[in-house]
Amino acid sequence: MLGFLYIYNKIIDCVSNIKKGEDFKKKNMYRTHTCGELSLQNIDQTVTLSGWVQKVRKLGGMTFVDLRDRYGLTQLVFDLNKNASLADEAQKLGREFVIQVIGNVSERSNKNKKIPTGDIEIIVDELRVLNKSEVPPFTIEDETDGGDDIRMRFRYLDLRRPEVRKGMLLRHKMSKHVRDYLDGNGFIEAETPVLIKSTPEGARDFVVPSRMNAGTFYALPQSPQVFKQLLMIGGFDRYYQIVKCFRDEDLRADRQPEFTQIDCEMSFVEQEDVIQMFEGLAKHLLKTLKEIDYDGDFPRLTYDEAMNSYGNDKPDTRFGMKINDLSETVKGLNFKVFDDAEYVGAICAESCASYSRKQLDKLIDFVKKPQIGAKGLVYSKCNADGSFKSSVDKFYSQEEQQKWANALQAKPGDLMLLMSGDKKQTLAALSELRLEMGQRLGLMDKNTFAPLWVVDFPLLEWDDENKRFQAMHHPFTAPKPEHLHLLDSDPASVKANAYDLIINGNEIGGGSVRIHNTELQKKMFTLLGFSDEEAQSQFGFLMEAFLYGAPPHAGVAFGFDRWVALFNGSKSIREVIAFPKNNSGRDMMIDAPANIATEQLNELGLSVISK
Ligand code: AMO
Repeated sequence: MLGFLYIYNKIIDCVSNIKKGEDFKKKNMYRTHTCGELSLQNIDQTVTLSGWVQKVRKLGGMTFVDLRDRYGLTQLVFDLNKNASLADEAQKLGREFVIQVIGNVSERSNKNKKIPTGDIEIIVDELRVLNKSEVPPFTIEDETDGGDDIRMRFRYLDLRRPEVRKGMLLRHKMSKHVRDYLDGNGFIEAETPVLIKSTPEGARDFVVPSRMNAGTFYALPQSPQVFKQLLMIGGFDRYYQIVKCFRDEDLRADRQPEFTQIDCEMSFVEQEDVIQMFEGLAKHLLKTLKEIDYDGDFPRLTYDEAMNSYGNDKPDTRFGMKINDLSETVKGLNFKVFDDAEYVGAICAESCASYSRKQLDKLIDFVKKPQIGAKGLVYSKCNADGSFKSSVDKFYSQEEQQKWANALQAKPGDLMLLMSGDKKQTLAALSELRLEMGQRLGLMDKNTFAPLWVVDFPLLEWDDENKRFQAMHHPFTAPKPEHLHLLDSDPASVKANAYDLIINGNEIGGGSVRIHNTELQKKMFTLLGFSDEEAQSQFGFLMEAFLYGAPPHAGVAFGFDRWVALFNGSKSIREVIAFPKNNSGRDMMIDAPANIATEQLNELGLSVISK
């Protein structure tokens, strides 16, 4: 009997849903408006809305439902006294049910100034459940209770959160503005292949086995570098592509194994032409997306200046606190730590002389962290009366510390922080300390954008582990013509026409003038430790192409995800990628990477060795 009743009720439900569906269909559409657009101007109109149930609240005889879609939230009202069965249905709605309603727009007595539709509500006459939902595993609001892993596993639910949607919308707008600007400047968008041979950009390749050529592998492009150069040889003159790149490297907040570049190349240009063109792009994006009119040229720093003044090649120039070299000033006063050091550098933290012993100890702990690796930190407080109080008063008189203050332009009330050791490591540690102090002092405002170009990079960097040179950018970067003669005698001192665009301490993009001559390209491969055969087998096609009238060319690529994240104020690029990977390179939602079937392995001629 019970079974019969259950089936009977289901049939009735079904018939009534079909009938409701027909009623709604008669009215012809799922929605007349979105959930973000109704206002006092629509009062008394009959509207149809569709969306997701965000929240159901019952207050006396009234049931309120917040209905959400991509465009916003609208409050729905069900009045028990007007239509008891409808109000009853509304109370049964669960979070994330998909519903359609027809109702009348009415002025709200209790207005919500926080949302654009907060002046109105919909007095609902008809309700149809389009689809039910399981209880979602986290709240779908800006302030969510879901941790990273769960949000990644249910990314399609995370994408419903306004904060995530805002980032995706910005991403869409940015790609449109990039295309507008580049199209307006005569750039042609061209696609390049994804199944290729390795392009060395400094990371490991992801590889794809070929079934038709068993035992051989494609590599996924780390960038379209060689193809864009070949497009220049093909006469394209100005190319761009918003393109996926793949790098198997350790992941961080600003790195994903697959990420997107705005990749560009130009013919018959010098470094200056490229910088001008893409400074134009950066200004266009600042203007269209952030409403910032950037006056004048972006500052430029040479690589050496950036390293010496900021301790890294992507300085955050939203604040000063530059590093000063005190090596000469501090030596010879029997403080062995400084006397024996290759380098002593210092920064001045404004208004921090009041730091307590505890705060200073915390700073010392910070620089001693393994990832920073400093042995210690010397401080000197510039007291209000002009005297100094330091951790090395035994060795340095007031006059000596005054010399440090002069070099650092420190004023009474400031705190001088000194570190010493191997030059490269000490500069790197000072750079971290500077950023930490910038953060503590609130000098890194998310809405301030400080772009600059870093230029004159070394062509090569010494790889101590493998005892050979590596290309600082990539092997296709041209040495400065005036340094060509040093390639044999002093390769480490050769500078390249290479440039990076930095904004707020992020490497947003990088590029270079390219080699377009076979002999020079061969020489470069030799310097990088390639044998003639290796160079020929990997890049013979490119060196051959150079023989057929390669134009002088140069280009740049920007990290699209990084740029969107920066403009969005996001901590990680994951926040502005629809379906990102986690820090172990896994897609938690589809559970990749995964094993493949034995038949598939056999077909590919592969076997897996378990480690
Ligand atoms: P480069 O290797 O400097 O240059 O890459 C260009 C820009 O891409 C971004 N980027 C990344 N973003 C997210 N995740 C990653 N794993 C990642 N790696 C790089 C950075 C970087 O500045 N072919 C050259 C460009 C050229 O010479 O034209 C290249 O790829 O923002």
